Parts: sequence; structure tokens; C-alpha cells
Amino acid sequence: MGGHLPVMVAEVMGLLGLRAGEVYADCTAGLGGHAVEAARRVGPRGTVVLNDLDAGNLERAAAAVREACGGDVPRVVRFQGNFAELPRRMEAEGLSADAALADLGFASVHVDDAARGFSFMREGPLDMRYDASAGSSAADLVNGLPEAELASILREYGEEREARRIARKLVAERAVEPISTTQRLAGIVRSVCGRSGGIDPATRTFQALRIAVNDESGSLHGLLRAVERAARSVAAGERAWIGPGGRVAVISFHSLEDRPVKRAFAGLVERGLATAVARGHMGPRVEEVEANPRARSAKVRAIAIGDAAGEHGTR
Ligand SMILES: C[S@@+](CC[C@H](N)C(=O)[O-])C[C@H]1O[C@@H](n2cnc3c(N)ncnc32)[C@H](O)[C@@H]1O
Repeated sequence: MGGHLPVMVAEVMGLLGLRAGEVYADCTAGLGGHAVEAARRVGPRGTVVLNDLDAGNLERAAAAVREACGGDVPRVVRFQGNFAELPRRMEAEGLSADAALADLGFASVHVDDAARGFSFMREGPLDMRYDASAGSSAADLVNGLPEAELASILREYGEEREARRIARKLVAERAVEPISTTQRLAGIVRSVCGRSGGIDPATRTFQALRIAVNDESGSLHGLLRAVERAARSVAAGERAWIGPGGRVAVISFHSLEDRPVKRAFAGLVERGLATAVARGHMGPRVEEVEANPRARSAKVRAIAIGDAAGEHGTR
């Protein structure tokens, strides 16, 4: 993939509407592409909260903000961990955001660095953990899970129609020798599915394992529950990790991610706990997709915490 291009920056900044002195929370700081733009907007009187599971990315994002802002750098607060836990950590520090962003999934460094094991194009250890210091790797799952569980991961998170056949083959192959590299796994999947043009069949298996290894679905649900909790607190006049009128934007890359965001945001708007910042979702411009193929499937949705009358949501 090479180089790092943050997705839909202008659109996201438009939706977040950051102003000088505000607090911006980046749930997925990554390489800091969005954070840099946010930092410029909140300015030296503002605060940028950076969070990432990947300690290396967190460091990269903080460095990018420092470099981009020079002497006008905002206060930067860092948290290394799952964004599902960020709300509690912010509340413990007395931080309340005016805008928050979650840009889901992996960063370019994850697929570019073969040693992280995310890429089916490069030989590497079968790892795929965003936080390389904790939890089970893709190799642990592939070599340790029962066949039925593997099949259900491939079906649910990869939308893989050959899930059962792939799982059966994985179990047979691991009995011969543990599956410990990306190329061996990709080869096994291709041997089951064949290649008839279109995308590499390993794509779906790698996506499924990445989602399972990092519990991406559980983390997103945790974050969405925390947004709802903040909305209820704001409605009750209580302090929360997102303040009254706080904008929340989520960038997703496939329907498994977008569906729960759409449902959660719509539920909050229906109950008068939030207002829609944009109608439905926004997608990337044609020029952006040409420059950055990963942007192709991006969708961003945004709400503002508080009711439409502005009683709790005044900005
Ligand atoms: C698409 S990248 C973000 C890119 C960033 N917006 C930028 O402009 O550079 C997603 C980042 O989220 C991190 N991540 C994924 N799941 C996470 C989770 N549950 N909690 C915290 N960080 C997570 C990944 O490590 C990765 O760095």
C-alpha cells in the first residue's frame, strides 16, 4: 500500500466542525492524519486526546501532531488501549470531548510491515494483533479453535461462502504441521477456493481473522454503548466523556461495521438523545478513490449529542 493517506479528511473535519479551544478525541489515532487536521483547528488552547491499541501508531500520531503544529501545539493526552475503554479513561481524567472520531480497522503500516502478519501478499508470521503485546494471534486461532468455530468466524466476519470447506482444510493441514505463516494460510485458502479472476480468495479469510483476533465487533459495540451512555448523561445534565453538542463521527469500511453504527446513531436520534449531523452517510469523492483505493468502501456517519431543540446540544 505504501504511504499513508487518511480517509475523507475534508468531509470528516466538516462534520466535526472543530473550533479553537475545543477538545478532540481520536479513538483510532493511527498515523495521525485526522489528528493533525483536528490539532490545527483546536489550536494551542485546545486538547487532542490520542488513543490507539498499537503503541507504535500512538507514538507516530503524537509525533505527527507535534511536527505539524510547531509552536502552536495543543495539549496532547495519550491513551494506549482499546477504544471501548477510552470513555472510562477519559472520564477518570475529567476529560470531556467536543468531538470524537473512530476511523475503524487497520492502518497502512499494518499491511506494509510484513512482520505484523496482516498481509496475504507478504510472507510473515501469522499475527494480526493491533496490540502486538497482548491477546491471541491469528496463528493461535487457526491452530487452536475447533473446526466449527473457525468456520463460523470465516462466514460471519469474512462473508466467506466456502467457510466450512476452508475450515476443514485448515484443520487437516494443521494436523500435519502448525500453520504459522501468512503465505501458508493464503496458499491453503487458495487451494480450496481456486482463483477465477476478481479478488484473491485469501482476502476474505484474512479479513475474518483480523476481525476475530482484535475483537473488532465487540470493541465497536463497546464504543457505541459508551456513546449512548454519554448521550443519556448529557440528557440528564450530567458530565460525560462527550459533552453537550459533542459531535461523534465513525468511518467504517464494510457493512459489518457500518450496520451497528447506523442502527445505534438512528436509535439515539429517534429518542431525541442526539441529532444527525449529516443525512445518512457520506462516501469519498471519486478523486479520493482514485488516489487511495482503500477509501473506496469508506462510509462516515455523524451525530451530535443532545436534543434537536438545542436544550442540551447547544453549540
Ligand atoms: C484506519 S487506522 C486510523 C488512521 C488515522 N485516522 C489516521 O489518520 O492516521 C485505525 C487505527 O485504529 C487502531 N485500532 C483498531 N481497533 C482499535 C481498537 N479497538 N481500539 C483502539 N485502536 C484500535 C489501529 O491500530 C489503527 O492504528
